[in-house]
Amino acid sequence: MKAPAREVVGREGVLVIAHRGASASAPENTLHAFRRALDAQADLVELDYHHSRDGEPCVFHDKTLDRTTDAVARWGGEKLPLSARTTRELRELDAGAWFAERFRGAVIPDLGAALDVIQDGSTTLIERKAGDAGTLVALLERKALLQHVVVQAFDWEFLAACRARAPHLVLGALGSRELSQARLDRIHGIGVAVVGWNHRYVDAAAVEAVHARGLKLWVYTVNDADRARELVALGVDGVITDRPAAIRTALQKER
Ligand code: G3P
Ligand code: CA
Repeated sequence: MKAPAREVVGREGVLVIAHRGASASAPENTLHAFRRALDAQADLVELDYHHSRDGEPCVFHDKTLDRTTDAVARWGGEKLPLSARTTRELRELDAGAWFAERFRGAVIPDLGAALDVIQDGSTTLIERKAGDAGTLVALLERKALLQHVVVQAFDWEFLAACRARAPHLVLGALGSRELSQARLDRIHGIGVAVVGWNHRYVDAAAVEAVHARGLKLWVYTVNDADRARELVALGVDGVITDRPAAIRTALQKER
């Protein structure tokens, strides 16, 4: 466990944030990807989670297991929802071989295990895909991490529910459309610290509007070094990328 999340968010300079771990060099949302992100000295490491059938937060991006596990080969069918399986069943799956044979045997981590790895050298940016606020806040409380992680979601009602339960939790509101004043007003009203937006909708006016409200602007998902430099020149505060090492190098050269 390193610096408090609020301190990390407020750091000088541009934050480099590993998207689903260092997901260009290891299977996304696995401990391999998180360890590589730590090696790349990512300022934060992003992950996604859903709840299993028995209510355990499991680190995974898609609603269905098909793309990044061997669930279809193992169980048959298609479009197999993660939420229909118990944690025990999910542990049987291979979440690494789809990416490269050398990662065969990688498992879907539970959120607690992922936090243990990431918090050892960085700060976790937890993206909630599905699951209630109470379960997440209780887990963070148990692990004494309430002030050491950032929680983000596209679902702003979820963020408001987190805020009601945990006044000091650092929150980020995600969006993928125009960054309008009305949306910013809503986000601001929830009490988030960060706006995490699709980089395609970010321009100088958007950066100014976010900063005028005292918020930070992080952009996703930026894997191209030229685009990262462009966004930094506009004034963004964080770059969420599958390639944290390469993007950090590109931005350092810039300075
Ligand atoms: O960190 C923001 C970004 O992860 C949101 O998009 O689809 O990769 O979860 P997605
Ligand atoms: Ca995500």
